[in-house]
Amino acid sequence: MHKTDFPVEKYRKDFPILERKIGKYPLVYFDNAATSQTPKQVIEAISNYYATYNSNIHRGVHTLSNEATDAYEQSRKKIQAHFNAAHPHEIIFTSGTTHAINLVASGFKNFIKEGDELIVSALEHHSNIVPWQMLCEQTGAVLKVIPMLQSGILDMKAFDQMLSDKTKLIFCNHVSNALGVINPISELIEKGHSVGAAVLIDGAQAAPHIQADVQELDVDFYVVSAHKMCGPTGVGVLYAKEEWLNKLPPYQGGGEMIAEVSFEKTTYAGLPHKFEAGTPNICGGIAFGAALDYMNAIGIKNIAEYENELLTYATTRLKEISELRIIGDVAHKTAVISFVVEGAHPYDIGSILDKMGIAVRTGHHCAQPIMDFYQIPGTIRASFSFYNTFEEIDRLIEALKRALSMLL
Ligand code: ALA
Repeated sequence: MHKTDFPVEKYRKDFPILERKIGKYPLVYFDNAATSQTPKQVIEAISNYYATYNSNIHRGVHTLSNEATDAYEQSRKKIQAHFNAAHPHEIIFTSGTTHAINLVASGFKNFIKEGDELIVSALEHHSNIVPWQMLCEQTGAVLKVIPMLQSGILDMKAFDQMLSDKTKLIFCNHVSNALGVINPISELIEKGHSVGAAVLIDGAQAAPHIQADVQELDVDFYVVSAHKMCGPTGVGVLYAKEEWLNKLPPYQGGGEMIAEVSFEKTTYAGLPHKFEAGTPNICGGIAFGAALDYMNAIGIKNIAEYENELLTYATTRLKEISELRIIGDVAHKTAVISFVVEGAHPYDIGSILDKMGIAVRTGHHCAQPIMDFYQIPGTIRASFSFYNTFEEIDRLIEALKRALSMLL
C-alpha cells in the first residue's frame, strides 16, 4: 500500500501525451531526465501566443509587440522569483543549459591565464566538460577533475586537496543526469569562494525536483533548461550575479545587445540585453514562465516528496531482479535509476521495453567519463516525474522480466 495522497490522477489529465499508446500498450514515459512532458496549460500558452500576439519584442510601437514584450519580461520576473535572484536582469535567456555554459566559458577567456586551474567534477554531462576543455586549450589553463567513488558520490577529500589560490573556477552539476546523485553544491561553493574561485552549477537536472535559492547558495552562476521543467525545448536561462554579468564581455554580437552602433565604435546595451543578441525564442521564454506557474501551483516540495516515494518503490522492486545492478544507489538522489543487467546490452533491453510501451533512455547519457569509470558501455535509465504512477513501475518490472527472459 502506498502512503501518498498526492493527486497524481488529477495531474495526469493535464498531459495529453499520457493518453498515447505505443502499439497496443499505453505509454509509460520514464525518460523525464531527457525531457519532461508538457501540460496543456503550457501548450495553451504557446498556442495563445501564436494565435493572438505573435510579434517581435523590444522593438515595435504597436500593441502586439508591447503585449509580447510585457509577457516575455513578465516571464523573466517569474524565473527571477522562482530562483530568488536579486534582480530580473540577472536572468539571461539562452537556448538552454548548454548555451548558458558556453556563454560563461567564452567570457572567462578574458580572466583565465596559463597555469590557472579549473575544477570539474567526474559526474558531469559533456556540456559541462567540453566548453571548459576548449577554454583550457585556448588559455593554457589546467582542468582538474574531482574523482568519484564507487558508490557514485564525489570524493570531497580529493576536492579539498585540489583547491589552491590557482583555482579560478569550479563547475559541477547540482544533480548528475546519468545517476541522479545530488552533489554537495553548498560545500563546493563555500570552499571555492574561500580560495577566491567562482562557481558555476548546472541545475538542469535539479530544477524539476529541488527549489534552488541562488542567493542563499551564494552561487555565481546557475544554469537551467525549460524543457526539463514542463516547458518547451530551445529555451533556458543563465542566472549570474550582477557583478559577473558586468565583467563578462558579450557572447554574441547583433541586434538587441547594443546601445549605439557606428562603423567607428559600438557600445553595448545594459543588462540583460547585452547577452541577448538577435530575436530570442520569445514564445519559449513566455512558455517557460507558464511552466513555472504550473509547477509552483503543485509545489516543488510536494513534487519531490511524491517522486521520492516512486524512487523508493522502484528501487525496491528492481532489486527483485537478481541479475540487475543499480549504478549510483545512494541515499541522496532524485528520482532517477540507472542500472545494468549482467549479460544483456542496455540498447537491447531499451528496445524491448519500447515494444511494450515503456520509454527509458539507454546509453552513456552524454556522460562517457562515468561509464568509463564503471567500465560499462552504458546504462538503462528510468527517470520519474510527478505524473508517473506506482502501477507504471509495476509495468516496468514485468516488462523487464519478460525482456530478460528473452535475452538471458
Ligand atoms: N541531458 C539529457 C539527458 O540526460 C538529454 O538525457
